[in-house]
Amino acid sequence: MSCPRCGYENSELARFCSNCGAELVRTTSEGEERKLVSALFIDVVGSTARADGADPEDVRDFLRRYHRPVLEQIKRYGGTIEKFIGDAVLAIFGAPTSHGDDAERAVRCGLDIIEAVRDLNAADPTFRLSVRLAISTGEAVVTLGGAHERGEMLATGDVLNTAARLQAAAPANRVVVGARTHAATQRVIEYEAMPAIKAKGKGVPLDAWLAIAPAAGQSALAPMVGRDAELKLLRDLFEKARRERRPHVMTVIGPAGIGKSRLTIEFLKAVDAAGGRTMRGRCLPYSEQAGYQASVEHIKELAGVLESDVPQAARAKVAEMLAALFPPEEVADIVRFVSLLIGLGIDEPVEMRQPLFYAVRRLIEAVSEEGATLFTFEDLHLSDASQLELLNYLCDQLRDVPAAFLITARPELDEKQPALDAGRLEHTKIVLEPLSADDSEALVRPLAPPENVPSLVEMAGGNPLFLEELAATQDAVVLPTNVHEAIASHIDALPQAQRT
Ligand SMILES: Nc1ncnc2c1ncn2[C@@H]1O[C@H](COP(=O)(O)OP(=O)(O)OP(=O)(O)O)[C@@H](O)[C@H]1O
Ligand SMILES: [Mg+2]
Repeated sequence: MSCPRCGYENSELARFCSNCGAELVRTTSEGEERKLVSALFIDVVGSTARADGADPEDVRDFLRRYHRPVLEQIKRYGGTIEKFIGDAVLAIFGAPTSHGDDAERAVRCGLDIIEAVRDLNAADPTFRLSVRLAISTGEAVVTLGGAHERGEMLATGDVLNTAARLQAAAPANRVVVGARTHAATQRVIEYEAMPAIKAKGKGVPLDAWLAIAPAAGQSALAPMVGRDAELKLLRDLFEKARRERRPHVMTVIGPAGIGKSRLTIEFLKAVDAAGGRTMRGRCLPYSEQAGYQASVEHIKELAGVLESDVPQAARAKVAEMLAALFPPEEVADIVRFVSLLIGLGIDEPVEMRQPLFYAVRRLIEAVSEEGATLFTFEDLHLSDASQLELLNYLCDQLRDVPAAFLITARPELDEKQPALDAGRLEHTKIVLEPLSADDSEALVRPLAPPENVPSLVEMAGGNPLFLEELAATQDAVVLPTNVHEAIASHIDALPQAQRT
């Protein structure tokens, strides 16, 4: 079969690509799924007029400068580019992966794109870019598996048409949202009402709002409660690794919604505040990355590689990053091995995976030598064998550097093959227990009427996600989207087989 990463033809029995070392995944049955998504549609005002009679080079340069910040912001907020239609860009938030707050991500992304357009115009008064942008939230049918990469639409549904219609009627350089997006985000985004939009092909006029800015003092996250002991332990372990130059492996284990990601966010903030470096790596269920997911994220973040970069551009960034870290005689090899590992498909392949693993080890050592660094491997239960093997190799080989690994996973990590093996490194495992009744109460008090608090605390059994969901369903008129998203994002995190 051919390798999904480098295209090399392997024997039908091979489990790993003998070319680049990626795990060879047999094509799974591809299907469709109904999901709640937010569609963001953006188009240039007067683009035909601009292109008319213009020098093709100028048009291309204009498009490039306009697309760059648009694509960067979409990537930053975890959106997926659905397609380009002329100068227009359609992006989907919530597919293939739901994040739990996709409507909010789409709106924040829209606001930042408008900001970027303003910056472009301020930097070059002749640029005069003006855009229309709108966001709509609703059900869509989403293709599963790799169909999207092969050119099929990721999502289909009325929500896409609605986004396009709202967009066509949007005032220039503003963010317009539809009713469901508004309902899902009104706690965290400030809005201004605008007249309903009469759209072609729609019976009733569409309610619409103008997004102004993220609401002041509001955070999408409820204030952190409890977990003081866990957070302190993690911080102490990082400090110890830094002080003693002894890499430490920390694993945080717990079921869905118990607070692994939240604890990670707080820990990352603490490391930042203490002057440490942080590199996040996540094992996303549908990532396009075949193999080594979290490690690839580390490398791409270090090199500043964007999803929108073509392989040649990505390789140039990797080479530049590595040239700053390694002596000239070593650079060429490391660049090649790292580029192979992240699957750029440019370099001459290698027979064995060992040099690729060794290159990652050298990179982690060099980066940590510049400043104590925390590398996260989040949701490791979703990783494939290649990532686990690389991680086990690193645990076996790393010595005498101020680096630390934070691994988060659901308990099913224990069933993975190969098993996680911290090797000779110091290893601390934290099992996240349910929140205490007091902490549960503190979490839910700002979210629900006082008379409901005791029953919510009782029902949720100390699971913060359940607390949030239950509190939200009490206000079912305003919040169904959030609940829906929260549930969907947790289903996304399940292996395909368990998703029925
Ligand atoms: N200690 C806490 N204080 C306040 N809110 C919390 C706390 N822990 C978790 N939450 C909130 O509960 C929700 C679920 O938590 P989180 O996403 O961290 O769970 P998780 O363990 O990562 O779940 P999954 O296995 O699905 O990734 C989030 O909205 C999070 O912000
Ligand atoms: Mg999580």
